[in-house]
Amino acid sequence: MNDKRIEKLIARLKNKEKIRILFVCLGNICRSPAADGIMHSIVGSHHDDARWEIDSAGIGNWHAGQLPDKRMRVHASRRGLDLTHHARQVRVSDFDDFDLIVGMDNNNIADLRQLAPSPEAMEKIVPMAHWVRTVASRYDYIPDPYYEGAEGFELVLDLLESGCQALYEDLSKA
Ligand code: 4NP
Repeated sequence: MNDKRIEKLIARLKNKEKIRILFVCLGNICRSPAADGIMHSIVGSHHDDARWEIDSAGIGNWHAGQLPDKRMRVHASRRGLDLTHHARQVRVSDFDDFDLIVGMDNNNIADLRQLAPSPEAMEKIVPMAHWVRTVASRYDYIPDPYYEGAEGFELVLDLLESGCQALYEDLSKA
């Protein structure tokens, strides 16, 4: 993914009155609802809620209607996050309804590109890892924790806290 393209896209969005952002993973029960909750918390702590519209969705519909995975809710709650999103599948109208569509890994990005209804829509798709700044992070994607143990969930939360913070700063008006 081309960093210059992302920088141009962010520069365009930075001065908008409203920022509409959709986080996307495979099932919408682990990574993207966590990113959604973390971003809501960051935006809330800056009293910036009126400017931001934040949501999340999954490539698949297997878990539609469900709360996030219990393990993710337990790990998130230890960091003070209450994850209450109900899973839903990505829809084509999301490409109109959001300015930025943030995929968690390369499979999500490839699937989103297939779904995008136009070249302009495709331009909105970006990888979450672009913003991950944790020191010594060797991840250029957010790894799926579904078949992992506790440390997989902690890693995802660490990566997402770093990434969402940097993304928030990038999109905040100077
Ligand atoms: P997520 O994790 O994409 O971070 O929500 C997954 C959740 C469910 C499945 C895969 C990944 N699943 O195969 O059901």
